[in-house]
Amino acid sequence: MIGKPSNAANTTQTVEPAPVAGPNHVAIIMDGNGRWAQKKGKIRTFGHKAGVESVRAAVRFARKANIQSLTLFAFSSENWKRPEEEVSVLMELFNLVLNSEAKRLHKNGVRLKVIGDVSAFDSKLVEKIRKAEAMTENNQDLVLNIAANYGGRWDIVNAAKVVAQHVATGEMRVDDINEDTFSTHISTAKLPELDLLIRTGGEHRISNFLLWQCAYAELFFTDVLWPDFNEEVFQLAVDDFNVRQRRFGLTGEQLLTPGS
Ligand code: IPE
Ligand code: IPE
Ligand code: MG
Repeated sequence: MIGKPSNAANTTQTVEPAPVAGPNHVAIIMDGNGRWAQKKGKIRTFGHKAGVESVRAAVRFARKANIQSLTLFAFSSENWKRPEEEVSVLMELFNLVLNSEAKRLHKNGVRLKVIGDVSAFDSKLVEKIRKAEAMTENNQDLVLNIAANYGGRWDIVNAAKVVAQHVATGEMRVDDINEDTFSTHISTAKLPELDLLIRTGGEHRISNFLLWQCAYAELFFTDVLWPDFNEEVFQLAVDDFNVRQRRFGLTGEQLLTPGS
């Protein structure tokens, strides 16, 4: 169990607090850019640009905190419905950030992956994504997943299509389909289970993010708007995660006394 270290008040012995494992895989719904800009009397895209610094802070923190995977929701499959001007600034920003950050991520041992249906993007952008992924593919310190044109339902349907294909070609029988075989076709397949989902911007919803992966994730919501997110806020979320009792369907007593 992950919990608060016990307090050895009645003994003279020094009891080392049990090391806290911390989350292996954290995902963030980076929300609130538009409102942050509007509060400052600026146009919404000013907030998207400001949000890039928060992405850097999140990556920095994840590396320091030994988080193995960080999955950031950058653009949802529904975000295409926004005004054309905003969508095009977001695409441009994605391009610029890939140009300016890919080498730095590589130098810092970060493996970059983009999850989502990138076929809808401009071919030059897709090429840039593939190049950055190939350059960083052997890095081990942190896997940084950028969810772009991503939808949780798309992810599930996509996995179902691959499984259906295996059945159609006879490689797999319907009876062999189970949660484990299905999971291997989800976009985050090779990563640790999602432990913690953070959403900034004050809304308490998933907005079609990692639907399959959220099954047993701990959820942390904060009113902080994404451009104001920093390492301290990330630390608060991790501290909160570290004192939760994750029961996975068991009772609290079972966790405290294994075998009971
Ligand atoms: C999140 O911030 C960024 C994207 C969805 C691309 P928003 O742009 O949704 O900001 P708010 O929620 O309107 O303030
Ligand atoms: C979720 O934020 C998507 C991203 C952060 C990329 P939205 O702003 O699109 O979510 P809703 O529309 O408020 O649910
Ligand atoms: Mg929003």
